[in-house]
Amino acid sequence: MSTVLEYDAIIVGAGGAGLYTALEASQKARTAVLTKLYPVRSHTGAAQGGIGAALGNVEEDRPEWHAFDTVKGGDYLSDQAAALVLAEEAVQAVYDLEHLGLPFSRTDDGKIDQRRFGGHTRNFGEAAVRRSCYAADRTGHMILQTLYQQCVKNSVDFHNEVQVLDVLLDGTRCLGLVAYDLASGELITLKARAVLFANGGVGRMFRITSNAYANTGDGQALLARRGIPLEDMEFFQFHPTGIRGMGILITEGVRGEGGILLNAAGDRFMETYSPTLKDLAPRDIVARAIVTEIQAGRGITGDGTVDDYVYLDASHLGRERIESKLPDIAEFVRTYLDIDPAEKPIPVQPTAHYAMGGIPTDLEGRVITDDRGTVVQGLYAAGECACVSVHGANRLGTNSLVDLVVFGRRAGRHLARYVAQADLPELPPGAAEPTAARIAGLKDGKSGPPPELLREQMQDVMTSKVGIYRNGPDMASAVEELKGLREAYRDVRCPDRSQAFNTSLLEVLELGHLLDNAYIAAVCALNREESRGAHAREDFPDRDDARWLKHTLARLEKDDVRIEYKPVDVSRWQPKPRKY
Ligand code: FUM
Repeated sequence: MSTVLEYDAIIVGAGGAGLYTALEASQKARTAVLTKLYPVRSHTGAAQGGIGAALGNVEEDRPEWHAFDTVKGGDYLSDQAAALVLAEEAVQAVYDLEHLGLPFSRTDDGKIDQRRFGGHTRNFGEAAVRRSCYAADRTGHMILQTLYQQCVKNSVDFHNEVQVLDVLLDGTRCLGLVAYDLASGELITLKARAVLFANGGVGRMFRITSNAYANTGDGQALLARRGIPLEDMEFFQFHPTGIRGMGILITEGVRGEGGILLNAAGDRFMETYSPTLKDLAPRDIVARAIVTEIQAGRGITGDGTVDDYVYLDASHLGRERIESKLPDIAEFVRTYLDIDPAEKPIPVQPTAHYAMGGIPTDLEGRVITDDRGTVVQGLYAAGECACVSVHGANRLGTNSLVDLVVFGRRAGRHLARYVAQADLPELPPGAAEPTAARIAGLKDGKSGPPPELLREQMQDVMTSKVGIYRNGPDMASAVEELKGLREAYRDVRCPDRSQAFNTSLLEVLELGHLLDNAYIAAVCALNREESRGAHAREDFPDRDDARWLKHTLARLEKDDVRIEYKPVDVSRWQPKPRKY
């Protein structure tokens, strides 16, 4: 028997999207947040450089320009109504965060300060614009602290270190969840009028990533196993500047403040790849440029391997500016590399950063299951795990924070209205039994393949075959290898059989989630025979709007993935070649 809890609304995940949804829902409904961490340790904290909003505090800006940049940055796969909502609501969302207590950095006359960021321009691409509102290089952290305090004030119930393991659906409606309490090792069954997933990304399927250990795509995998399709999973963003060999993020804010990328010859190579925006081109373009420089032997060691790197030079900005605008980055670089960024350039290489795809939703965060927008009653998603789809084939920097605030808030408001009229569902008898049997099986003491080995193999396959540059034969072999790894996973056992704080069990369960996500992403990537945004195929180097201006919907069916499509909303701007 597992404990049964009841709520009006349950939010899975305590990053920015989950907390904003919880804050809105808790105005009217009894709300709980389940998080596998502690709320202020959520991965939103890794979004360092800012939140984009056309406040126009330091130079002219307009929401329409922001929406256009989002669509063009997404290589025209963004749904344009969503991009307009994002850009228009961003402005009020930033002021609301300010009024909730977020300590933004200020201009001399006391306004919220703004810095440049990749792909954000004035007047439809003329030149870089200062649109990113920031709190030094701790913007994500400040969002977490601000929203968490407001949720506590609003009496949201937090269940920390609790991992969701199953979603209870009856075909048309979400009924609740089954979750695992790490401290006690007990299962909890939760009944709710509505559930929202905001569990974040899945960067841990790659070897070098900016993502926290917790980013294992749990909600995406659990819903896929229950028949919900995942959208646009082939599009995964590599942030151009991770610390070499470690992947720890060095914010784009460094380049927003004037930092530049240099190759082994000391050349500012982005002038060639993006004559207008240079180092502030969108991330897909900068990440590819770095790889191209390395492959051409112009990386710093010059051996042309994936371990090669380039320099991010901020030394000309001066110590005072670095310490005041980029204090965390300066500290990371000193700690991990023993380098003073005011004196020397920082060794960087692209790092797996962000999933553009995820659980498909409408503009109110309701999960949809097909190209007609059929909604699952009482089931919502927001933030990185969701796909609204605003980022299309490539997200612009700062737009992750905008996405989670704007769409987290919209989802929370809709959810609050929904639960006011929905009944509390009845759960089927023995709802937690399949999960209990699964855990018992993992702890039955038999031996199986070592989970850490499967994880390493998955990360190597994804990094070498479904990375920045891709091709058909490599991806076909990645799909087969991932299929094999999923098969091997069925025999995995948890080496630790203890009850309390069994983090080893959690890692085994997370590995299953990662493998499902990786498999779906690889199948979708192989299927899409064009290059668009972050999906760059050597064998199909051009964007092909005639065949591929459509979203992918991928259904996990046991060992196979069935692909369907959904039209892209191009109601405002017709696709054009991307030039920066
Ligand atoms: O570079 C950064 O500060 C990351 C921000 C983002 O992913 O939006």
